[in-house]
Amino acid sequence: MKGRTVALAITGSVAAYKAVEVARLCVKAGAKVLPLMTASAARFVGPVTLSGITGEPVAIDMWDPAYPGEMHVAIAARADVVAIVPATADVIARIAQGRADDVVTATVLCARAPVAIAPAMHPNMWSHPAVQRNVAEIARQGRTTFIGPVHGEVASGESGLGRMEEPARIFEALAALVAPRDLAGRRIVVTAGPTHEAIDPVRFLGNRSSGKMGFAIAARAASRGADVTLIAGPVALATPPGVSRVDVESAEEMQRAVDRALGDDLSRADALVMAAAVADFRPSAPSAIKIKKDAGAPAIALAKNPDILASVGARRSGARPVLVGFALETGDDATVLAYAKKKLTEKKVDLVVANAAHESLGHAASRVAIVAGEGAEPFSEGTKEALADRILDRLAALAARR
Ligand SMILES: Cc1cc2nc3c(=O)[nH]c(=O)nc-3n(C[C@H](O)[C@H](O)[C@H](O)COP(=O)(O)O)c2cc1C
Repeated sequence: MKGRTVALAITGSVAAYKAVEVARLCVKAGAKVLPLMTASAARFVGPVTLSGITGEPVAIDMWDPAYPGEMHVAIAARADVVAIVPATADVIARIAQGRADDVVTATVLCARAPVAIAPAMHPNMWSHPAVQRNVAEIARQGRTTFIGPVHGEVASGESGLGRMEEPARIFEALAALVAPRDLAGRRIVVTAGPTHEAIDPVRFLGNRSSGKMGFAIAARAASRGADVTLIAGPVALATPPGVSRVDVESAEEMQRAVDRALGDDLSRADALVMAAAVADFRPSAPSAIKIKKDAGAPAIALAKNPDILASVGARRSGARPVLVGFALETGDDATVLAYAKKKLTEKKVDLVVANAAHESLGHAASRVAIVAGEGAEPFSEGTKEALADRILDRLAALAARR
């Protein structure tokens, strides 16, 4: 979102007040928001609220003689996305017909940027054949994404399909629409989560990895246009949109899945990001039946697991695929960094993301330093999505050079 321009058009639904939150989220993420309103929308929320949040004048009257030039043309030219939040049945009908009798519809016609429509209406309105025909017509015209509606309570207190999607989800969808497509055509394999190493059919050795970092990298890579295969250990996370997912349990299964995804000569992928916390050891002889407690505490002998990243690093002859590892360690910054540098050379990888266990495992945010052959960036904090973008920026630069 940073540096992007969102033309945020509000139309006449009770859900209009939620558009204020969408505007706030966009501004907070570093976007410029150009607010537009229909005359009906201005009866639901005050233009002053919108201009207060966005720091921009609100476009309502395209006949305003004080406006220098053509309002709809100027706004359309600046927009990286035109978002209609909420969208009434009426504005959907007007867009389907290609009308331009107010600043919102005129801007939609004039824009060449993607258009996002977040409908909000009574379920009877949404399911009406006329509305559905208009939605289908807009979809047929292309360039437009519908965000929702969703099932839930509407303004009348009734429930059904017609409620506007939540502001946070609308924000995410807009962010995905304006994301740079700098990874288009790149095939990226990402591993995520822990591995579970069987002790017997009901018990395992595992670790506390939540998979959030790997899933964030897969999600951001997909929205930046990459073709993403996500190899996930046992985690309770939804598959990000547009990502192909392969579920595995153990380190050995993960290795086989990585080998399949990369191909024998490693030519099937442009990059491998090993964000998974692969168990270093597994019980060497897992029991085929549940171990009983009567015999006392068992001694569990351990065997070393394959080092997936190191084995790919050793097999890579040229510069592809780009290899990214993670070093999750306990200790102070210097200790974590020293370990990450060692990993970079020993495993023959391009980037190692260094992070301390207590600041990362299971958290939504983390504090990392990216270590490369030419040196290490200082530690800095961010949400896992923001860190994912930082890692992908470095990966994209390396992939472009090769
Ligand atoms: C209190 C009230 C609530 C309304 N809520 C909605 C709504 O949620 N969705 C909708 O499609 N129309 C709703 N309408 C009807 C629209 O405001 C009306 O069709 C208007 O002409 C839409 O104009 P616009 O699309 O230019 O904003 C509502 C009207 C009123 C009076």
